[in-house]
Amino acid sequence: MNTTPHHVVDVSHLSKTFGDGKTAFRALNDVSLQIKQGRFVSVVGPSGCGKSTLMQMISGLVPTTQGNIQIDGKTITGPQPEKIGVVFQDALLLPWKTALENIEFPLSLGDTPVAERQERARNMLKLVGLKDVGHRYPHELSGGMRQRVAIARGLVRNPSLLLMDEPFGALDEQTRTRMWGELLRIHEQSGTTILFITHSLVESVFLADEVLVMASNPGRIIERIEVDLPRPRDLKLLGSERLGNLRNHIWDLIAKPDDEIDA
Ligand SMILES: Nc1ncnc2c1ncn2[C@@H]1O[C@H](COP(=O)(O)OP(=O)(O)OP(=O)(O)O)[C@@H](O)[C@H]1O
Ligand SMILES: [Mg+2]
Repeated sequence: MNTTPHHVVDVSHLSKTFGDGKTAFRALNDVSLQIKQGRFVSVVGPSGCGKSTLMQMISGLVPTTQGNIQIDGKTITGPQPEKIGVVFQDALLLPWKTALENIEFPLSLGDTPVAERQERARNMLKLVGLKDVGHRYPHELSGGMRQRVAIARGLVRNPSLLLMDEPFGALDEQTRTRMWGELLRIHEQSGTTILFITHSLVESVFLADEVLVMASNPGRIIERIEVDLPRPRDLKLLGSERLGNLRNHIWDLIAKPDDEIDA
């Protein structure tokens, strides 16, 4: 039996140009990446290097200029909400729906029977540790709780892939640290493949199996770093020398001026 995990994400020679003629802007140039099932891959790079553009193309929301994107072996031609869950920086919950109803919402777009929808939404609510506050509206939740509702909503259709674009950027340090623990647990329990964009180098290393480091002008991947920290990850790792060294290495790559990068 072949038990090798397959590539959930296979991006090859992807480029993106915005505009045309004199105003044409090459946002991404020749980006290739593969992610095996169940892996947690983070993406770091300077502001404007094309992280969100890359994620939006993988989600099918933004068309590519060149190259190919396959999810589960099939070329992406448009959004696939049943296969790809998305969590953005702002939770973007529907204010007139409760936490539970927000999580259930993506299922109401398909043909899942109501009873099953509600059960799955309740299970997700439990998974993100919010089972007692499902009746609350977004304005009655804390920022961290709203973000957890957004993660639950991203996972409720049991997607092959969860795309997260700086999901914890707006949170205070304590809440963010707690969310790391939550996300690691959710990743372990759900087995979902995750592509995670962040500005925090520590976060990128602490959560992931692999860190993709990007540079700008044009946006591209300059290094792939395998994170060989043991799982399950413990918060104590945050103070470890190994994590510190990886973080410093990434910082050196990002801090280099563009003309010194030869990748
Ligand atoms: N619709 C668009 N039209 C023209 N240019 C765009 C468009 N979307 C993004 N860009 C440009 O493409 C580049 C990459 O943008 P993107 O949002 O992907 O960067 P990012 O790496 O996510 O940055 P940040 O870390 O600040 O979120 C930027 O220079 C941006 O101005
Ligand atoms: Mg961005």
